[in-house]
Amino acid sequence: MRKQAMIAVVFAGVLLLTACGAKQEATPVGQVTQPEAVYKQSCISCHGADLQGVSGPNLQKIGAKLDAAAIEAIIRNGKGAMPSMSRGLSDEQISAVATWLASKK
Ligand code: HEC
Repeated sequence: MRKQAMIAVVFAGVLLLTACGAKQEATPVGQVTQPEAVYKQSCISCHGADLQGVSGPNLQKIGAKLDAAAIEAIIRNGKGAMPSMSRGLSDEQISAVATWLASKK
């Protein structure tokens, strides 16, 4: 009887560890690299759902004005009233959203 209880405890422990491991493998929200998803997460509050601008300027034709490198610099360093957005975003996420915006002409 005792032995069975031990086995049950060990088995439950293994199950628990497996469950935790599986959870860690799921992609955290901060790791998405789809530009639209990054935009929604980090930019939408100031630049609007349709890039139309809210407190920040309209970005619908930003690619006609700035190339991807210039946009990337603004995301990293901020500009005027726009804070640096590099905290919490990976290099991949920043360049993905910059390239996406640079295509808006
Ligand atoms: C807290 C509000 C805020 C957030 C969040 C924000 N911005 Fe901005 N953004 C601004 C403001 C305000 C300006 C205008 C800055 C200026 O010219 O003085 C600006 C300017 C810009 C410009 C230059 C526009 C132009 O016409 O020169 C780009 C590009 C830009 N933002 C992209 C982004 C991206 C991409 C994100 C998300 C990663 C983002 N912004 C997040 C407020 C914000």
